[in-house]
Amino acid sequence: ENEPSVSITVVGASGDLAKKKIFPALFALYYEDCLPKHFTIYGYARSKMTDAELRTMMFVVYLDEVPMFIHGENCDEKMEQFLKRCFYHSGQYDSEENFAELDRKLKKHEGGRVSNRLFYLSIPPNIFIDAVKCASLSASSGNGWTRVIVEKPFGRDSESSAALTKALKNYLDEDQIFRIDHYLGKELVENLSVLRFSNLIFEPLWSRQYIRNVQLIFSEDFGTEGRGGYFDNYGIIRDIMQNHLLQILALFAMETPVSLDAEDIRNEKVKVLRSMRPLQLEDMVVGQYKSHTKGGVTYPAYTDDKTVPKDSLTPTFAAAALFIDNARWDGVPFLMKAGKALHSKRAEIRVQFRHVPGNLYNRNFGTDLDRATNELVIRVQPDEAIYLKINNKIPGLGMRLDRSNLNLHYAARYSKEIPDAYERLLLDAIEGERRLFIRSDELNAAWALFTPLLKELEEKKIIPEYYPYGSRGPVGAHYLAARYKVRWGDLN
Ligand code: BG6
Repeated sequence: ENEPSVSITVVGASGDLAKKKIFPALFALYYEDCLPKHFTIYGYARSKMTDAELRTMMFVVYLDEVPMFIHGENCDEKMEQFLKRCFYHSGQYDSEENFAELDRKLKKHEGGRVSNRLFYLSIPPNIFIDAVKCASLSASSGNGWTRVIVEKPFGRDSESSAALTKALKNYLDEDQIFRIDHYLGKELVENLSVLRFSNLIFEPLWSRQYIRNVQLIFSEDFGTEGRGGYFDNYGIIRDIMQNHLLQILALFAMETPVSLDAEDIRNEKVKVLRSMRPLQLEDMVVGQYKSHTKGGVTYPAYTDDKTVPKDSLTPTFAAAALFIDNARWDGVPFLMKAGKALHSKRAEIRVQFRHVPGNLYNRNFGTDLDRATNELVIRVQPDEAIYLKINNKIPGLGMRLDRSNLNLHYAARYSKEIPDAYERLLLDAIEGERRLFIRSDELNAAWALFTPLLKELEEKKIIPEYYPYGSRGPVGAHYLAARYKVRWGDLN
């Protein structure tokens, strides 16, 4: 009975992220019996709402979204029990008084136990610091830990990010801040280190000696759809590349960490980021989607979004070539591509290996030797898989070669649903596991790589290359890859 209590307050409880991701993830954790015994969940936002209304809102989302990842038994019963532990507090984000009221409510739930408190800030950056200030001054735990999960955007560039970090540190220590990048919570991203460090056949090949290029690809088959207001101020480079793709790159390319401890891993990741050259304009292609009519349906242009200025030059697509100047990766292009309103939805890592020197079978491949090299594909989503393209002989008397996949297809191999990234990350934050959260030096290094380029794009008002909604993106991305003798693997 002396077990500490944990309260999780979702600040910005009526927002989309809270509704669609955070609350469902909390329920999934409860369903899996992963939440501590004495827990309470609070939604905090400005709108007036009762506990019952919050519960109804959560229940509606549960009906719509949760079945996607929970198919278990007694789901409805569990939901009912879960909702009894969820409450709502209406307050301003900059009111110490309102947070003090929350504090009083939390104390009642805690009933004199050691109180651990987690705040999840799911609110826009302009009110962020005020909320941190008020939460830490008026509602932090008196005898347990207080932790704060913060969502991007962590600034728009090096300067604004540094200012944000400085302001945060007026109220919190670094070890209380959990900067979330939900891509790090994805199953196949977590598996990256297992694949590499626990299989003899990969790690020895993980370098410039055997790898020709690495591709990090993110595409969505829908546009900004209602998020244009936020998006237009950031663009795809800040929204996806500088964080999600770069984080994957750092994990992919890091040296073997001393251990699996958070600090050891983050030490190695930050070294990768610091060994990279800041991006140059010529290493980057930017695009923006335009309207397109297909099968009688007209898909909107980015600038048709009511919340986006008509003359916006904000990129909804970008492709870039990055380089790591260290002994392992010298000269190996890391190509990134990220875009909205493209023909497919996917996130994947593609590793293209070098040619087999003096390959006895070269003549069987014809003139296109590139297609004969091995490629390792880690499909982060959808339909998670890891497959290795190999060459083999087509059975029969002749000697004709074929390409096949050695395939670990998750849905075929495992019947259990893969947990949502937010589940893993929330659980880690409750348990104080920092491995998958971004340390401030990593964040600085990430901004240092992209800030000069972002400024140049904006100052020179670089016109994006327009691509039709639902297409494969601007042709410029092919030319960029071709410059490094690379072909995008997803288009083969
Ligand atoms: C978010 C971006 O971080 O990630 C969105 O702001 C994007 O623009 C989303 O749609 C993609 O996440 P997921 O998990 O759906 O691939």
